[in-house]
Amino acid sequence: MLIEKYEKIFMQISAVFLFAAVVALVVSVTGDHASLPEPAGRLDPDDVRTTEPFDEPGVFQTGDNEYSVVMVAQAWQWEPAEIEIPAEADVTFTVTSTDVIHGFWVPETQANAMVIPGQVTEFTMNFDEPGTHSLICHEYCGIGHQNMGGTINVVSAN
Ligand code: CUA
Repeated sequence: MLIEKYEKIFMQISAVFLFAAVVALVVSVTGDHASLPEPAGRLDPDDVRTTEPFDEPGVFQTGDNEYSVVMVAQAWQWEPAEIEIPAEADVTFTVTSTDVIHGFWVPETQANAMVIPGQVTEFTMNFDEPGTHSLICHEYCGIGHQNMGGTINVVSAN
């Protein structure tokens, strides 16, 4: 009898944690500056280098305060590995991989996405403050994984 009582209590605690997790997810998705990375397209990983826009990775101004960053992930580097963008601009990252799964992570920001061969990952970011951020691969991708880094320089908008 006592065991059944404990079991019921534990089930209720589990339900509370599940509910809290769902609430946290909804809040983080609907909160400001958050956008879920979404598959924006598909392509053969072997064709990345010859398919637009990945045949020309780089930073492009696309509007008044809008930028597009096209990136290719390949073991074990990001191309381009160094990016410069103005603060407070809307920056859309379009990323894919030519080989294995990589992870796009900029610590202390909302940028956190999987980069999957065969898939185009797209998400929009807004860096509020000028500063230098590290771009880190956070998905184990082989022997050079820990060296797969980059830099995002956020410069003053003026
Ligand atoms: Cu790329 Cu780890």
